[in-house]
Amino acid sequence: MAAGRNKVTVVGAGNVGATAAHWIAAKELADVVLVDIVEGTPQGKCLDLAQAAPIDGFDVKLVGTNGYEETANSDVVIITAGLPRKPGMSRDDLLKTNSDIVGQVTEQVAKYSPNSIIIVVSNPLDAMAQVAFRRSGFPKNRVMGMAGVLDSARMRCFVAEELDVSVENVTCFVLGGHGDTMVPLPRYSTVAGIPITELIAKDKLDAIITRTANGGAEIVGLLKTGSAYYAPSLGAVEMTEAILKDKKKILPCAVFLEGEYGVSNLFVGVPVKLGKNGIEQIIEISLTNDERTALHKSAAAVQELVDILNV
Ligand code: NAI
Ligand code: 2OP
Repeated sequence: MAAGRNKVTVVGAGNVGATAAHWIAAKELADVVLVDIVEGTPQGKCLDLAQAAPIDGFDVKLVGTNGYEETANSDVVIITAGLPRKPGMSRDDLLKTNSDIVGQVTEQVAKYSPNSIIIVVSNPLDAMAQVAFRRSGFPKNRVMGMAGVLDSARMRCFVAEELDVSVENVTCFVLGGHGDTMVPLPRYSTVAGIPITELIAKDKLDAIITRTANGGAEIVGLLKTGSAYYAPSLGAVEMTEAILKDKKKILPCAVFLEGEYGVSNLFVGVPVKLGKNGIEQIIEISLTNDERTALHKSAAAVQELVDILNV
């Protein structure tokens, strides 16, 4: 690896992982190591991406591998490894399988990159982030999950479409676990600083909120095999960029709460400040009783999974 360039490992060379590698390379954020258990897949995808570099003009090194030696001393590690749910597999079976995968991956990551910052993408997101946190032994500022950036981006996309305005004008906040109990917050969502509650009628806003909460399922329904990956991978890359460039960017991320928002010992999505030390601040915004109740309901759904895994 070239001295001085950042290094990012992406574990899982499937749709989300390979697309994350693509965005990182195209933005020249870091050298990339792509890891997968399937022989040839990370090597082939990295070679293909490296051959795209002369066309687009990005200078980063891309290494595909089935091991972890090449990942050593990564600054950030994005974990996307996991299995999709197969016919006959219960939700709990999938939970346990992906927990085993994320746990094993995390052990290797922690061994080879003990100072890295881990961003988990594998589902079920909040529980998998908790697995990575426990198995890495890393401090809580260096393990986080990506979901809020994606869920907020979905809401921003729908709001921009509804109002026929630039997506750049739209800011939305979605808190809670990454599931249908997530908590979109219209009160904190704005268009050029104007609360969307003043711009969109309640029935239309309710429809946007429901569509946001079902955003992942809508895409699975269309794709039929596999789930979303362009926006999810870019969500993880936005978090990576905020860390590598020490941007102090406020983003909704799944983080380990110890009493904030009335939630303890659990990963749940809340606004945080991301910089070179990972999670540099957990930002507590005031919530109405209804919003707080919805957040606690969402946290309870995450707690159920964490209890099954006993992590
Ligand atoms: P995919 O099936 O295309 O890729 C998963 C990859 O992980 C496969 O290439 C597989 O070989 C690899 N893998 C399995 N076990 C591994 C191991 N032990 N070590 C290394 N690699 C291993 O799936 P896709 O679409 O890339 O999604 C990845 C994960 O991200 C899934 O769990 C999915 O549900 C989740 N996801 C989460 C989102 C979020 O908002 N947090 C959004 C989109 C996807
Ligand atoms: C999504 O929200 C499946 O979690 C994934 O698209």
